[in-house]
Amino acid sequence: MSAAWMTRAASLVMVSAGLWACSPSDNPAGQTIAEGQSSASEAPSAWSPRVTRLLSEMSVEAKIGQLHQAAGGRSRNLNSRLTPEELDRVREGGVGSYLHVAGAEPLEALQRVAVEESEHGIPLLFAMDVVHGYRTIFPVPIAMAASWDEAGWEEAARISAEEAAASGLHWTFAPMIDISRDPRWGRIVEGGGSDPYLGSRMAVAQVNGYQGADLAAGDTILATAKHFGAYGAPTGGRDYGTADISERSLHEIYLPPFHAATQAGVGSMMTAFNDIASVPSTANGHLIEGVLRDEWGFDGFIVSDWNAIAELMNHGVAETRTDAAALALEAGVDMDMTSAVYVQDLAAAIEADPALLAALDRSVGRLLAWKEALGLFDTPYIYHDTDREAAELLAPDHRVAARRLAERSIVLLKNDNNTLPLAREAGSIAVIGQLAEDASTQLGSWRAQGRPDDVVSLLDGIRHEAGDAMAVSYAAGAAPRSDDMSGLPDAIAAAEAADRVVLVIGEDYDLSGEARSRSDIALPPSQQALAEAIFATGKPVTVVLVSGRPLAIPRVAEEADALLVSWMLGVEAGPALGRILFGDVSPAGRLPVNFPRATGAVPFTYSENPGGRPAHPDLERDTNRYMDQPITPLFPFGHGLAYSQFEYGEMEVRETQTGYRLSVTVRNSGDREADEVVQLYMRDPVARVARPRIELRGFERVTLAPGESVEVAFHLTPAQTAIFQAPGRWQVEAGRIEVMIGASSADIRARGEIQIVEAQTGSAPATALETRVEVIR
Ligand code: NOJ
Repeated sequence: MSAAWMTRAASLVMVSAGLWACSPSDNPAGQTIAEGQSSASEAPSAWSPRVTRLLSEMSVEAKIGQLHQAAGGRSRNLNSRLTPEELDRVREGGVGSYLHVAGAEPLEALQRVAVEESEHGIPLLFAMDVVHGYRTIFPVPIAMAASWDEAGWEEAARISAEEAAASGLHWTFAPMIDISRDPRWGRIVEGGGSDPYLGSRMAVAQVNGYQGADLAAGDTILATAKHFGAYGAPTGGRDYGTADISERSLHEIYLPPFHAATQAGVGSMMTAFNDIASVPSTANGHLIEGVLRDEWGFDGFIVSDWNAIAELMNHGVAETRTDAAALALEAGVDMDMTSAVYVQDLAAAIEADPALLAALDRSVGRLLAWKEALGLFDTPYIYHDTDREAAELLAPDHRVAARRLAERSIVLLKNDNNTLPLAREAGSIAVIGQLAEDASTQLGSWRAQGRPDDVVSLLDGIRHEAGDAMAVSYAAGAAPRSDDMSGLPDAIAAAEAADRVVLVIGEDYDLSGEARSRSDIALPPSQQALAEAIFATGKPVTVVLVSGRPLAIPRVAEEADALLVSWMLGVEAGPALGRILFGDVSPAGRLPVNFPRATGAVPFTYSENPGGRPAHPDLERDTNRYMDQPITPLFPFGHGLAYSQFEYGEMEVRETQTGYRLSVTVRNSGDREADEVVQLYMRDPVARVARPRIELRGFERVTLAPGESVEVAFHLTPAQTAIFQAPGRWQVEAGRIEVMIGASSADIRARGEIQIVEAQTGSAPATALETRVEVIR
């Protein structure tokens, strides 16, 4: 370990000790989170001269106006609330930001009112949920996660930023980096899946893509890491519910992507709607000011979620709106998204407690500083060039990038007897399932300015890619949310008349997403019935699973000859699927979350602790398992097949100056070019507390020609084995660490071990740290 690292670690331990009145061991899980106290970090004293001047000139009312974010429309009805009365509010300085607005021209007019007609001339901040594309819609985030493609994640975010910025926007509420191990939760579609290492890498790539190197460049936008801190762990998988989790889970599983985003320089974060161990995140000063700002050094600003400050009364932690205003501001929530509690009730809270004035200045200073960083004071109109807007939206190269990422997001779960790829030869295919023609579903949840008309449906993609020699018939069968099964006879007839079937089943876009939690993650009944009828024809069936979450599909997995998860793939869904089906590209997506066998198995992760009685297949033994299903997931985290095979050599372990170099040779032993996602896992077999039986610590997606070999070397540091002690305090224990390299969490191909000689203390979550990878050809 380097001396510099030691010094920083030591100083952070001291900071951490100052935060806690008692030692970590005196500080049981839950108690620390539940305190909800602010450590009242000082307002940064280093405001620019402009921000300092504004703060000295603005009235309390004008300052409060800056903290108010108003809705400029409903999410699908942008700008509709920008009435003459609303413009007067802008002139009076009553609004700091709008969401649900867009368009270079209308937003320029609005910005001119703020800049040229309000007393302080402070520009507005325009925001939108640009989550997986603006007009060019990319695969939904859980699909993108399945690509394990850092460059692809960054490119998608960069293109999204270019389009959004050309359309007058400065700020996106993305990336959504909530870890979730519970596919009942509908918002699992919006994030990077179940693993904190994978989630942290995806968070960093997206922040870099959105924000670029220069936020004032005019083609970059401010990112928001959301929803801080454990929104993905609601009880029962029901959206908005309590995350009743341990301090360890919070810090080891849910917070690392937020730490990684902080290190990447994310400009803003959004607090989650829910509470953690009874403390609503919108009022959790310990987490926001204590952990995020003091321990991690986050210097961005915090926005509440929609109406969440007012909802502190529903949570039962505030009696009045004035109480809610004081609680949220003290906790460090700088901007109020739409509840208007700050703009209407904060003044009364300040009158009752003038000490809040310091918090007000702190929040306003932050917002002005970020408006300044975006270049809004100096060049407020560079986001409003209509020619650029016309050229950027859905530009041809953006579509190419969307297709490429869509191809890389598709996961081949099963391929018996090389059913895939399909040969382009004389014969016939029946495409069956209404989802095949449902273009809208391919846009998924959060579609910004995406339009169904821009989407090439799966059906059109298959037809186009099949070429002239093949006959492609289509029958809808049944739609996911319908109980109308009258299309079944036609679907069966089409299957019977064809040589093979591509059966497209699953969920439509409105079955996952916000407030779309499901108690049963089986296929919707119409889809199951359709599948059973088609399997009964005895034709070779390739199932394409359209979905925003893992589904429990044991029958489909058994009956299908080949099974692809296509998720929701964006505007280029059809070409991407077609090119995979017909073998123009080999699939290489990998699951970012386990597929369980039944809903009863969730929440579920590949990375559980072994327990004292680890699960054993023998039911005669009393072990950590269900009686009524096998101990394995249906498909495990990291799983995904290709149209080729890969051989792994032995692992070579070498000590380096910073840690360990763990390498393997991977060879494409098949007869076609294909990608392999080489995955590094670790296990700490004996520690002071129980550790997961396996944990991801690195990955690399490599493309190999037939017969080609490549050496993949992972550089692991001791800090990446650290165990949570207390916020900002991570303990590296001396001892043996098992390291594993393989093709999935359940397909380990090479093993080794490292010895950590000296115990060390660090400050960062182990999974938030990047494993550097070398690829040597
Ligand atoms: C509520 C959602 O939870 C959040 O993710 C989103 O950014 C806001 N609404 C704004 O649309």
